[in-house]
Amino acid sequence: MSALFDVKYRDAQILLRAFEPTPDEVRGAAAELSSYYNDAHNRAMLTHEEDMSAEEVVEYYAESRAGGDRLFLLEQDGVLIGDADFRQFDAESAEYAIMIGARNLQGRGLGRKFTTMLHALAFRGLHLARVYVTILPANGPSIRLFQQLGYAPDSSPRARSLIDEESDVTLSMDRAAFEKQHGAMMDQVQFAPRK
Ligand SMILES: CC(C)(COP(=O)(O)OP(=O)(O)OC[C@H]1O[C@@H](n2cnc3c(N)ncnc32)[C@H](O)[C@@H]1OP(=O)(O)O)[C@@H](O)C(=O)NCCC(=O)NCCS
Repeated sequence: MSALFDVKYRDAQILLRAFEPTPDEVRGAAAELSSYYNDAHNRAMLTHEEDMSAEEVVEYYAESRAGGDRLFLLEQDGVLIGDADFRQFDAESAEYAIMIGARNLQGRGLGRKFTTMLHALAFRGLHLARVYVTILPANGPSIRLFQQLGYAPDSSPRARSLIDEESDVTLSMDRAAFEKQHGAMMDQVQFAPRK
């Protein structure tokens, strides 16, 4: 199994941390993640059709990781606030998704910061050349987040192979463009395999 990564960024006095959890850490986070996933707004945006119990969250993490996905818990000063992942890897690219779970923490710039942190790992640590996102057309905040970061519409076969529904919006961004726009912040991001 590949090393688990730990990604950190200090935003003024606040420590943002994204890390690939151990099975025990997933079990510890599962009840809270389940409540985030089951929030009506989040569930609609994430297209989860059913509620997920804490046990199902644990299973989902184990199965996804066994299938090659890389899942991260997101913490702000040690408090769990959401999760994110890279999935559908090929030799040089992957699909990315993120959830800032607590509704009162959405719209405060955390999605943008954690996404930049995880793209520092994806482009500089995992050496991906391109990252894709697929988004529901109704998910204005998410579309806006990725457009603001510099993502552009992508209707290539690879991008469209990632969709759930024909109406899904597909965007992507390559390493050079991300480095150009966000290199300065990426330089402040620390990532390393977990000990
Ligand atoms: C989508 C999501 C990840 C965005 O993260 P966030 O921390 O809320 O967003 P940010 O504060 O970083 O803002 C990013 C941009 O989206 C805009 N935005 C955020 N929330 C918004 C809202 N509720 N309505 C309108 N715009 C919003 C911000 O204004 C910002 O654009 P700006 O720089 O022009 O102001 C987060 O809201 C979330 O997890 N939602 C539920 C799950 C989800 O939709 N995941 C994405 C699946 S593709």
